[in-house]
Amino acid sequence: MTRVLSGVQPTGDMHLGGYLGAFRHWATDQHDHDAFYVIVDLHALTLDHDPAELRQRTLDVAIMLLASGLDPDVCTLFVQSQVPQHTQLTWLLECTATFGELRRMTQFKEKGGGQESVRVGLLTYPVLQAADILLYDADRVPVGDDQRQHLELTRVLANRFNHRYGPTFTVPEAAIPPVGARVMDLQEPTRKMSKSVESPQGTIYVVDDPADIERKVKRAVTDSGTDVVYDPAAKPGVSNLLELLGAATERSPQEAAQGYSSYGPLKADVAAALIELLRPVQKRHAELAADPGAVEAILDLGSAKAELVASATAARASDAIGLLPRRGS
Ligand code: AMP
Ligand code: TRP
Repeated sequence: MTRVLSGVQPTGDMHLGGYLGAFRHWATDQHDHDAFYVIVDLHALTLDHDPAELRQRTLDVAIMLLASGLDPDVCTLFVQSQVPQHTQLTWLLECTATFGELRRMTQFKEKGGGQESVRVGLLTYPVLQAADILLYDADRVPVGDDQRQHLELTRVLANRFNHRYGPTFTVPEAAIPPVGARVMDLQEPTRKMSKSVESPQGTIYVVDDPADIERKVKRAVTDSGTDVVYDPAAKPGVSNLLELLGAATERSPQEAAQGYSSYGPLKADVAAALIELLRPVQKRHAELAADPGAVEAILDLGSAKAELVASATAARASDAIGLLPRRGS
């Protein structure tokens, strides 16, 4: 069976874009693949953070993923820092990657802004990500388009290591959704919906109550004219609403457009469909949030399961690169 692995940072609140674009697919993928999903708390240390908040957000993301349908009996859901082999393998891969390769990463350039005060972890971030992937011999890595470069680096590092030290790692493929599979901001429909707080009115959060969802959809920016047609270039606002209606009701946006002659009824139906879509997720979310101890127990088990796989790969890599094993282990 194909092994898939993906990761999410415990930063920001989960919104409809992440749910429809990623986490809902994680939940369906778990039944067709051997699936590993990791909450990458170590990656969140690369920028300013608050320790208590990080701990809370790690648990919040776990709750969200479980509410989105991840079943800990079917997939392996775990926390990166709870599996020490991630940092262990990172060192071996840091001695495989070059400074030039890491310095050229777009995300490093954007987030680092050329500052001397930037954390070294921000530079080596993609190497930790490569370790996340290579430890599990992942065949496929579902990620957004912004991660394409990091996946390419992972492949380069895996191939270089295998070439230098003998076959050790599976070389993974990125699985990137088509460009159309993007949920756009309701206030600025040419920008993708994101967890940044620039326009909270343009972002629907998975835990928004029905009144908030209705209000945000009603105020969504539409385009000039009154036609309800799917045309992302000419009518980005209406097309986004049709994408949402289609995604929520399992139809194409073109099919979803049938039968509307003005924006009002379309918006009413989009709001109703999103409320229905999120209702079971919110119900499960409330149940899980009421028992954080049970969620921590799920993560304990997931991390233990992950470590079994990770420790075998880390030992293989340590051996290949020439480290003397401790006897009796
Ligand atoms: P983020 O919330 O940015 O950490 O993204 C988490 C996951 O959701 C990543 O796999 C993203 O590619 C995906 N994602 C985030 N925003 C959107 C969006 N507006 N539309 C579709 N997918 C998204
Ligand atoms: N860098 C990814 C992001 O920001 C998160 C991530 C870390 C990841 N490790 C991973 C994604 C491993 C896929 C596989 O979205």
